[in-house]
Amino acid sequence: MEFTDVVKNRYSCKVYSDRAVESEKLQAVLEAGRVAPTAKNLQEQRIYVIQSQQMLKKIDECTVCRYGAPVVIAVAYDRNNVYSYPGDRYNSGAEDATIVATQMILAAYNEGLGSCWLNRFDPDETAKALGLPENETIVMLMDIGYPGEGGVPLAKHFDRKPLEETVTYL
Ligand SMILES: Cc1cc2nc3c(=O)[nH]c(=O)nc-3n(C[C@H](O)[C@H](O)[C@H](O)COP(=O)(O)O)c2cc1C
Repeated sequence: MEFTDVVKNRYSCKVYSDRAVESEKLQAVLEAGRVAPTAKNLQEQRIYVIQSQQMLKKIDECTVCRYGAPVVIAVAYDRNNVYSYPGDRYNSGAEDATIVATQMILAAYNEGLGSCWLNRFDPDETAKALGLPENETIVMLMDIGYPGEGGVPLAKHFDRKPLEETVTYL
């Protein structure tokens, strides 16, 4: 798919069919995250692929936004391996994990899959429920699957501010 088509047409899918996601497609999504840039190339992201019924049930206890997706990816980062900005007030953990997640969500669309970025969950409770190590923080959950009936872009997808509202040339 053309890059511009991917970035313009990706949308948040909120209805999934029960069609399984092929492992090659899942691999392509994970590979897109693997090659993402990170500060100082630290690659502190930690990616959890959740697809067993047992673990999906745990996800459902943490968020109401799985929408029947057969795969959920949790993107976390290792707090012990982040780049600290000068001044030490900020670090790269969340931004690096977000770049990884963004590349993966675009790759999912490129593979013909639906996806949705989620933050409607408690990161600490969810990390506990998934059994993540104590030093990892979850940045986002990503539903992935084939769109089900009605799994089309919602109105908000088409509602973007014009550049003049968000871009300033200094
Ligand atoms: C950081 C972030 C968090 C989001 N969290 C949720 C969520 O928890 N549940 C949900 O249904 N959609 C969630 N979304 C989807 C947004 O509502 C959606 O991206 C936005 O309305 C634009 O629509 P589009 O993705 O179809 O273009 C989230 C999106 C982003 C970027």
